[in-house]
Amino acid sequence: MLVSGFDLSQLADNAAQRGRQLLSDLQTYLERDYEQRCLPSFGIEKAAEIIGCTSQHLRDKEGDGSLPPPRTARVGSLDRRIYNYNEINQIRRLLKRDAHPCACVRLIFSNLKGGVGKTSHALHLSHFAAREGFRVLMVDLDPQASLTTAFGLVPGLNVGSEEDIGPSLTVDPDLIHHSIKRTRWNEIDLVPAQLSLQYTDWQMLQARDSEVQDLGPLPQRLRQALDRVAESYDLIVMDTPPALGMLSLNAIAAADMILMPITPNFYDIASSVQYFAILSQLASTYASALRVRQLTLLMTRTDSAPETRTNISLLNKAYGEFLLTNRMPQTRELQRATGDQMSLYEIEAPRGARETYLKAIDAMNAVNAEIMQHVWQVWRAAEMNAPIEARHGK
Ligand SMILES: Nc1ncnc2c1ncn2[C@@H]1O[C@H](COP(=O)(O)OP(=O)(O)OP(=O)(O)O)[C@@H](O)[C@H]1O
Ligand SMILES: [Mg+2]
Repeated sequence: MLVSGFDLSQLADNAAQRGRQLLSDLQTYLERDYEQRCLPSFGIEKAAEIIGCTSQHLRDKEGDGSLPPPRTARVGSLDRRIYNYNEINQIRRLLKRDAHPCACVRLIFSNLKGGVGKTSHALHLSHFAAREGFRVLMVDLDPQASLTTAFGLVPGLNVGSEEDIGPSLTVDPDLIHHSIKRTRWNEIDLVPAQLSLQYTDWQMLQARDSEVQDLGPLPQRLRQALDRVAESYDLIVMDTPPALGMLSLNAIAAADMILMPITPNFYDIASSVQYFAILSQLASTYASALRVRQLTLLMTRTDSAPETRTNISLLNKAYGEFLLTNRMPQTRELQRATGDQMSLYEIEAPRGARETYLKAIDAMNAVNAEIMQHVWQVWRAAEMNAPIEARHGK
């Protein structure tokens, strides 16, 4: 029905102009907020535990000048040594405890369903790996750009139109070098996303034959781009949109491992069945383009409701050997941290009860440690230059 006098085009244009001003105001606020935040600091005992040595060893090395003098903070009448993750990794390097694997593992978080924890777990796994000294590249492939904002970047404002992964997929794989941004974690770089990435799917589908010849097969564009930079990283973690379009297909074709977060509720279980059916079709259509070695399900947002317990046992029955042993429970600490564009590893003090925080971080650590065991399998296989035994093969 046409409503006379209603001009949607003008109205939308007006809203877009006001929105640009709003974004610029928001950016000032976000940048100030992000700059004020820094990585949390720990005492020497915790720092030594993360590095895997004794606190006395650190003191000795600081004493003999092998390590720089640490920062200190006054606690009561004492000056206590403090360290953050970047300093801990610098110590690792200086103490030559920073051995890196000989290959770069590429891992994607993928599910057709939204809100299951893809972005949250991609972020937490990357922080966990960086905390252990691994060099991580995060690639945000979701036009919603939640991961990008978790690093204090505002899509469309401080992520320019040519700075997402799009140009590497549609113009020249070498352009990935221009998309990589440093983050406040020295061990983590980020290829950011923004809304216009939505057009990249469409653009790739429109590709002419001549372009395909120049740039290579469509599903392999991302892998080609990542090959240009993989040498600089131990792990590439990709966050994908809740859809199986060209961007996700490229992510799957670039991946060694697929991590699928799944929540134990009826609709998400139903959607997982569809996901596997589509994945199976894609995998047979593009068999030669894929090199996935592991497909693993991670149960997320679990609680103790009776129907959840029923669904968990049904999921176990159906997908048992695909499932990680550890699950991530529904927890307000994670919700609060990600709401503040942070991870559980970045918050200095619990937002709520300390016990809730400790439970959340323990669960997250267990999940990430288990994922890293699988990553190690791929690293070791690469080291031995032997094909890894398919974990979930027939
Ligand atoms: N274990 C959890 N406990 C509580 N909240 C959680 C948990 N996991 C994720 N969330 C919250 O759920 C929301 C969605 O999570 P997230 O953005 O990670 O999902 P997603 O799968 O990436 O969604 P999308 O497909 O829309 O990108 C976020 O607000 C996040 O804080
Ligand atoms: Mg997401």
